Amino acid sequence: MTTVPTVTLNDGVEIPQLGFGVFQVDPAETQQVVETALEVGYRHLDTAKIYGNEEGVGAALKAAGLPRDEVFVTTKLWNADQGYDSTLAAFDASLQRLGLDTVDLYLIHWPTPEKDLYVDTWRAFETLLADGRTRSIGVSNFRAQDLDRLASEGLATPSVNQIELHPYLAQDTLRAYGAEHDIAIEAWSPLAQGKVLDDPVVTDIASRHDVDPGQVVLAWHLALGNIVFPKSVTPERIASNFASLDVTLGADEVEAISALNRDDRIGPDPAAFN
Ligand SMILES: NC(=O)c1ccc[n+]([C@@H]2O[C@H](COP(=O)([O-])OP(=O)(O)OC[C@H]3O[C@@H](n4cnc5c(N)ncnc54)[C@H](OP(=O)(O)O)[C@@H]3O)[C@@H](O)[C@H]2O)c1
Repeated sequence: MTTVPTVTLNDGVEIPQLGFGVFQVDPAETQQVVETALEVGYRHLDTAKIYGNEEGVGAALKAAGLPRDEVFVTTKLWNADQGYDSTLAAFDASLQRLGLDTVDLYLIHWPTPEKDLYVDTWRAFETLLADGRTRSIGVSNFRAQDLDRLASEGLATPSVNQIELHPYLAQDTLRAYGAEHDIAIEAWSPLAQGKVLDDPVVTDIASRHDVDPGQVVLAWHLALGNIVFPKSVTPERIASNFASLDVTLGADEVEAISALNRDDRIGPDPAAFN
């Protein structure tokens, strides 16, 4: 079976660079879809309380019967649960839905700057880490100023920042910030939910390698060092996305895809999402 490269986080934890995301996977379908992903070889799952499918992820893990330390599980704190005590309670509830004793990575889903609660929330994350209930802690959709704020409060540096990132949204500033501060970058909507797959630059490279456009875009992410977890409910795509590990792009191809950037978001702007 293909080996998945790992990224070593700033706390020493190793995370598989390619995983499987379950945003917009119907809760009723989640167990089956995740079981398929585990059969294909994925060993990193990315869910969130707000996806409503933590139970399905947990059920698939149980059914697969893999040793717990062979699957990296991430979940996220929803915005309404920010604050010290509410974070601790929300974490317990997520673990219960997942049917797990610990997660590998817990993320603040959005900074929600207007609420101004992410500093207290992050203190609760430090507690969860110190208590060994999560192996690693990180953030999602944080801007440079939010990361600076955690640092200025003397708090732990997040191990990851999970941000929208794909060929149409390069995120050079946050990638450089991550490189400078040893914060790994996780790319959400790595395929731009399919919107980059018809781009002629991508389809040309795909025909040159005799692979599909999704594999080219994922190979681009992997070449840049991004951690990715494409979502699909389609068994053929679940398998072909995993096989992107076997695709190696030339430096010129990586550059050509990077040049597609147009600072185009699919999802909300973190500055305004409260
Ligand atoms: N932190 C955050 O705020 C945040 C936000 C969004 C997403 N995420 C995470 O990132 C993960 C991935 O992002 P995403 O689900 O938004 O988008 P994505 O992975 O970029 O794209 C998923 C879409 O592309 C289709 N697709 C998948 N593989 C394909 C392929 N090889 N060829 C053609 N189409 C393909 C899927 O269709 P089918 O399913 O019909 O096959 C689905 O419609 C999520 O599942 C979630 O874990 C995090």
